[in-house]
Amino acid sequence: MIKDKMSLAYALELDAKDPLIDYRNKFHIPKDESGNEWIYLCGNSLGLQPKNTESYIKQELKDWANLGVEGHFEAKNPWMPYHEFLTKSMAKIVGAKPIEVVVMNTLTTNLHLAMVSFYQPSSTKNKIVIESDAFPSDRYAVESQLRFHGFDPKDHLIEWKPRVGEELLHIEDLQKIIDENSEDIALLLIGGVNYYTGQFFDLKKIAEMGRQIGAKVGIDLAHGVGNIQPDLHNANVDFAVWCTYKYMNSGPGSLGGLFVHEKYANQKNIKRFTGWWGHNKKTRFNMRHDFDAIPGAEGWQLSNPAILSMAAIKASLDIFNEVGMDRLREKSVKLTGYLEMLLQELGEDVIKIITPKDSKDRGCQLSMQIKSADKSLHQKLTDNHVITDWREPNVIRVAPTPLYNSFEDVYKFVEVLKKSINE
Ligand SMILES: Cc1ncc(COP(=O)(O)O)c(C=O)c1O
Repeated sequence: MIKDKMSLAYALELDAKDPLIDYRNKFHIPKDESGNEWIYLCGNSLGLQPKNTESYIKQELKDWANLGVEGHFEAKNPWMPYHEFLTKSMAKIVGAKPIEVVVMNTLTTNLHLAMVSFYQPSSTKNKIVIESDAFPSDRYAVESQLRFHGFDPKDHLIEWKPRVGEELLHIEDLQKIIDENSEDIALLLIGGVNYYTGQFFDLKKIAEMGRQIGAKVGIDLAHGVGNIQPDLHNANVDFAVWCTYKYMNSGPGSLGGLFVHEKYANQKNIKRFTGWWGHNKKTRFNMRHDFDAIPGAEGWQLSNPAILSMAAIKASLDIFNEVGMDRLREKSVKLTGYLEMLLQELGEDVIKIITPKDSKDRGCQLSMQIKSADKSLHQKLTDNHVITDWREPNVIRVAPTPLYNSFEDVYKFVEVLKKSINE
């Protein structure tokens, strides 16, 4: 029997029918003093800890304790090739070929490394396009790259802006920027899923637009990886970067990822900043002078990587592998659609959802502006152990994460929100 869609009973019915509901038990859900689970809707900021993470990290600690340096070859998961154990699964998640993906460094570092290779300005073709509300770190990185090459960001950074009175971006406006600056633009750097609005862009279209004017296209997938299916290889973007501490649940500050399209895999002479870990594995320890890049994304590595962080990533990837992005995405569309339905019931005079309405244009996150409310509302939610996040000037971001959030979580969140608004 279909229950009243606004009732708790309906949420429970949806959970009972959810084929992924048991995955929630694979995560540590934070609890209050009385042992009640928090309503955690903040996977867009920091994903929860999988219960298997501890054993994966302990394995490496044990091998380090028992084997010391021999662990590089003798550990259960030898450290020398450890990053290779992550590549196939990570590539599947972002829709790439293994040769196109490597786990290394952190997002902003990878962004700089990618720009060293893919932002090669000339005296005339040197401008970079970003979203006007791009994540600050991306803006700082881009501005510093412009200055590094002797260009003033005031004249060489082009912002793709929302129209007056709107929050979302129109692809037609990006096309207009491209048409008007076709000779000048060297790079488009776009957040695959915008961190503020949750808008998911048509990456294939953007890559095509860039290619038509001979500009490179890079994507920041911080809010996309493990959330939407970016299909990077087929989208034909030049590069992408991401972190693993949000939807990939790999722990605070955990390592990031880099995608470099296969078409560059064997271009050994492409300009890049180099380190020994990007050097030919067969001769790396011969300590030769000449750098010989590993084909593919691995050739951008600098240093021997943080194994403890990679162990956490491996723990998470093993869960993603089991579930598969298709099933996750299927649940995500339902879960976020359910949240949207409950929020819409509050009325547009109370709440405005700025995230696109069409599920193909968004991931799991909804960004909302609550009329006549300020940051104190977010504080009230937090005081009730309802974890969302606040972004200046006036947005609460809520991300029901399909791996561990339930329809009941979403129902309870809206109940606490209603109570907090009315207090
Ligand atoms: C969209 C986006 N880009 C870049 C970053 C910066 O990431 P990192 O600190 O790992 O370099 C973040 C961090 O939250 C982000 O959300």
